[in-house]
Amino acid sequence: MPKRRDVLKFGLLAGAAAALPVERLTSAFAQPATAAASAAPTIKLFETQLVVPPVLKPTHTIAGTDYYDITMRVAQQEIIPDLETTIWGYNGIFPGPTIRARRNRPIVIRQHNKLPSEAAVHLHGGNVPSSSDGLPGQEIAPGKDRHYLYPNRQQATTLWYHDHVHHHEAFNTYQGLTGLYLITDPAEDKLGLPSGKYDVPLVIQDRSFNADGSFRLPDPNLGEFAGEVAVINGRPSPRFTVEQRRYRFRLLNGSSADCLHELTLGSGDTMHVIGTDGGLLAVPVAVSKLPLAPSERAEVIVDFSKYPVGSQIVLNSSVFGTPMQLLRFDVVKSHSGHPKLPSKLVPIQRLKESQAKVHRDFQLNLDKARGEMVINGKSFDPDRIDIRPKLGSTEVWTIFNGETPDLPIPHVFHTHLVRFQILDRDGNPPAPFESGWKDSVTVMPGERVRIIMRFADHPGRFLYHCHLLGHADAGMMATMFVTP
Ligand code: C2O
Ligand code: CU
Ligand code: CU
Repeated sequence: MPKRRDVLKFGLLAGAAAALPVERLTSAFAQPATAAASAAPTIKLFETQLVVPPVLKPTHTIAGTDYYDITMRVAQQEIIPDLETTIWGYNGIFPGPTIRARRNRPIVIRQHNKLPSEAAVHLHGGNVPSSSDGLPGQEIAPGKDRHYLYPNRQQATTLWYHDHVHHHEAFNTYQGLTGLYLITDPAEDKLGLPSGKYDVPLVIQDRSFNADGSFRLPDPNLGEFAGEVAVINGRPSPRFTVEQRRYRFRLLNGSSADCLHELTLGSGDTMHVIGTDGGLLAVPVAVSKLPLAPSERAEVIVDFSKYPVGSQIVLNSSVFGTPMQLLRFDVVKSHSGHPKLPSKLVPIQRLKESQAKVHRDFQLNLDKARGEMVINGKSFDPDRIDIRPKLGSTEVWTIFNGETPDLPIPHVFHTHLVRFQILDRDGNPPAPFESGWKDSVTVMPGERVRIIMRFADHPGRFLYHCHLLGHADAGMMATMFVTP
């Protein structure tokens, strides 16, 4: 496996960044225009229609387990009208096909790697056995395949799968290796939420393009790069025709770099958050502004019944103050009634600090001297076990972003295997919309976030890392071994 450790060092970035004003450091969106950027194709907003990724059908079912086949391959896709983009896609599409799973009904996916390099598939947010987690050492060589077993013993939620080859994670994901994995269950069914064509996934990603339509990546080794074009379900700022009724949107920020979105509706109206990373909330939470960091999911209900036919409502975002228009909703007449917004969703069992016998501290920062991204001073070593949580135990983790004001880098802390609840941010309770189940949490420079989790099943080796994939590739990742 080619090692990119050396070229991934962040020393250069740190040096270049020091010359820029502080507010520009954290996002490549603010990079000054370069010659390459001016050669980019003209992209018209809302020119294309939103595409919803197809739902994949199982190839067969044996004893209640559904079997799927996916081939990872290089393909051409029309992302910008009349231009072809070479992508790496699950089944050759970007985003990949959506898997719809049912709670307690296992799925086995056979992944064939027809890419020119190694691949590893990780089901983000999945409570899965270690052997199916996509860990270092489990890479699929070109031409080979691997079976992943997903037990789906977890509540209804929006998960996603993406590549996880260490040192290549940001690059591979940027090339297109992302897809959705939705779990449903009876508790969710009972709520009568908008379903079918009114239940729409929106995968938000950043890309940059060359004049010929190919993805632009100034340095394929530098995963920290963020594109200036918002791509929704693989199309640049598309439009979507909606009826005058309620919709459920499953938002995923699938960006590889530091695109911390803050979503708002152009109408100024609120949306109701009904779910986050690990499942539905206890009650819907009205928000007018919704932060969504890379790898986070939020499910929202948007009510278009109050807008006259012909209205156009834009889903806006701001990334470190840079405004972006992600998607336009064009309102047409509804032909049916629409479901109510339930007042209660699903009960959430609060994990109590008093149950936790183990407390751990994690400091995340850039080690400028070594040019590496580190957790507690160490960069990732696949042969080292960093912590050993005990199966059945509850733990409280304090995540501290140790970046200093001269280089204020945000981090997004993610745990494999377990979902968690946020106890507090700098001592303050989390906002209502992030008080449910999470697997990723933004930790701003100087901030301290405490999370609580229970290791209920699956012993063995798993990872935790920063989900700005360039940071993970540069070392901000560690191994936990859950001991039986
Ligand atoms: Cu989406 Cu290791 O993560
Ligand atoms: Cu994960
Ligand atoms: Cu980070």
